[in-house]
Order: sequence, then structure tokens, then C-alpha cells
Amino acid sequence: MAHSMNRRAWLKATSLLTGGLAVLPGQWNTLAAAPAATKLPYQSMNDFEFGETVRPKLKARLFANENPFGPSDKAKQAIMESLNTSYQYPMRSGEELAEKIVAFEGLKPEMLMMSAGSSAILAAAAIYFSKDGGNIVTGDPTYDDLPDRAQQIKATWKKVPLTPEFKLDLDAMEKAVDANTKLVYICNPNNPTATIVDTQKLRDFCERVSKKTTVFVDEAYIDYLPDPKASTMIDCVKQGHNVIVARTFSKLYGFAGLRVGYAVLPADLATKLEPFSSGLWSMSAPAIQAALASYQDREFLDGALKKTLASKDYLYQVLKTEGYTYIPSSTNFVMFPINMPGERFTDEMMKRGVGLRHWEFNNKSWCRISIGRMGEMQAFAEAFKEVS
Ligand SMILES: Cc1ncc(COP(=O)(O)O)c(C=O)c1O
Repeated sequence: MAHSMNRRAWLKATSLLTGGLAVLPGQWNTLAAAPAATKLPYQSMNDFEFGETVRPKLKARLFANENPFGPSDKAKQAIMESLNTSYQYPMRSGEELAEKIVAFEGLKPEMLMMSAGSSAILAAAAIYFSKDGGNIVTGDPTYDDLPDRAQQIKATWKKVPLTPEFKLDLDAMEKAVDANTKLVYICNPNNPTATIVDTQKLRDFCERVSKKTTVFVDEAYIDYLPDPKASTMIDCVKQGHNVIVARTFSKLYGFAGLRVGYAVLPADLATKLEPFSSGLWSMSAPAIQAALASYQDREFLDGALKKTLASKDYLYQVLKTEGYTYIPSSTNFVMFPINMPGERFTDEMMKRGVGLRHWEFNNKSWCRISIGRMGEMQAFAEAFKEVS
């Protein structure tokens, strides 16, 4: 398995990421000294810092696209049962989880990389593909974690505006690829617009563009689509194309705080990314047991999906009643235009205990609201009537 390194190799790999820069090749010492690399990754979490005085009053936590209907009862039970042996390193169980995913997706074991959340995979790709400069092509707006890290290292970030329907403009993205493009990052469904691109069009794009550069498809929200297997680009990886697919348990499985994620990728790329990833051993034993207990648990997943859709329908009605439009959503969050500066809107909503996020694009201010429990959506509706 691509990730089943022994403990010594794991310690060596993690030391590369956690201060062991002295042992890196010369290029990496230069990188570490470069001013562009001085911004610490966790600074990108500033948007979520609302101050301790506000936080305890939060009635609706709708700013991080979490799934409050998870994790499943089976996952919680597995966590409880795993605690007694959680003094042990999770040697075998991480591999068991990898084997389950490999079997479900029909992969060769060396095509899977696992990690504590997909952020670690995105970070590994950002480091690997930006270390020699070049550019990263993405839609705009999109999930900025990977390209933002890449530009803090050595890459240039080429942003391609979305189509008038707020979808990734695959034709324009393909045109933006040049001889210096190290990676194309596709977030499908796209965060923050919650839109999807046509599956066949994306498949054709992956097949063509991956001949010129690596295509990274972030499928964090794919479990919210009616048929994830029909929409995934994992098939492109299996057919041998130069494509990486990232997946996470953080969304529909409700594991954002537990941290389990993985990538499906060509074996040679897995070998190249592995030194920059925290790897299989970064997942905690309770998180692994929870994932083993709930992976592909259709009853739980369908139930969470149903509750998400009910809350989303309620939100659509609230927005319509207040005279607002919204971008139809394929995920557990919705983007809608607002009539005041985004920061003022989210501050006013936060004063009323409703946590949201805002964006500025297409000369407009937008709010992104995650789908929460019905009570949270009602708290949003109440505050929104006052603020809008
Ligand atoms: C598009 C996208 N990719 C990746 C992530 C990171 O997820 P994880 O919790 O697996 O690190 C997020 C988190 O919100 C996301 O929205």
C-alpha cells in the first residue's frame, strides 16, 4: 500500500514537515528561508475567529460546511470501544480502513494515500507541485487551501472566473494551462458556489488536460450528489491518467473533528507526494475505528442526506420569502447575494448568534451558509429577517 510505511519511515516523513528542514535537500533550505514561506498555514483560519465573547452565544454554526447529523451512532459506538486500547499505535487498523476503501473503489492498493483529513493531502500536493515554481490553475472563486499554500511557496496562482452559471469554466481553464502549469485544481462540487460541472465534460477535460499537466479533483462534497460513483473522477485514475482525486469523511460522514481523508492517485505520484504528507499514521485510532464502522453505511448516509435536504428546502423558502435569489446547491451549503458589504452582514448575523461566511466576487457581496439542523436554520431565518 502506498501509505503503509513503517514507523521509522513515518517519523522521518513527519519530521520533514515539522521542523526537520535541516535534513532537506538544498532547495528546501532555500524554500524555508524565502519570505513567501513565512506565513504559517493556520493563519488561513482567521476567518473563523470570532472572538471568545461571541462564541458561547452561537445559536447556529453555519460557517464551516460541517454535517451536524453525523457522525453515525455506529461510529460513536466504535469510538467508545476503541478508547481502552487507544494507548496503542493504530498499526493494523489504518491498513484495514485502506483495504476497505481499496475494495469498494476497485483500486490497486498503491493508488491510495490516507491522512488525517484531506487537508493534509491538499497540503502535500501544494508543496510538491509548487516547489519548483510554475503556476497552478484554478476556478475563481474556489476552495483556496491548495493554491494559497502553493503561492506561499513558489507557484503563481492563475485564477479563472466561473461561468455566468457560477460553474467552473472548464474551457477557459484548459486555455489557461501553459508550459509552466504544474497543476490544475478542480473542486467539484465547487466550494463556495456549491455548483457541479457536467460529468462527461469533466471526464473529457481530465483525459485531455492530464496529458499536459496533473489534474487534482477535490471531491470533498461528492457524497451529497445523488450518485457519487457516477460522478467521480476515480475512473480516470484507474485508467492511468495523470489525475489525483481527494476525498474526505469530514462532510457527509460528519467527521470534520475526527479527521479522516484520502486520495486516489497513480502509484508513482503517491510515491512522490508521500514524503510531504503526514500519512496513514496521522489518523487517530478512534477516528479509524469510527470510519471502519461507518464507511458506506447507506442507512446513515441517506438519513443525513435527507435531513440536509429538508433544511436546505427550508432555507430556499426563507430566502425566496425575503426576496433573495440563491445559487442552486448540490452540497451542504448555499451561496446567495446580499445587499450590503459582506463583513457588515456576517458581523450583524454573528451578533445574533448566527455564524456565516462572506465572499466578494462579480462585483457583489455574497453570503455562504452551511446547512445545519432545522433549529439552526430557524435561528438564521429569525436573524435574517432583522438584518436583511
Ligand atoms: C473543497 C474542500 N476540500 C477539502 C476540505 C478539507 O477537508 P478535511 O476536513 O478533509 O481536511 C474542505 C473543507 O471544508 C473543502 O471544503
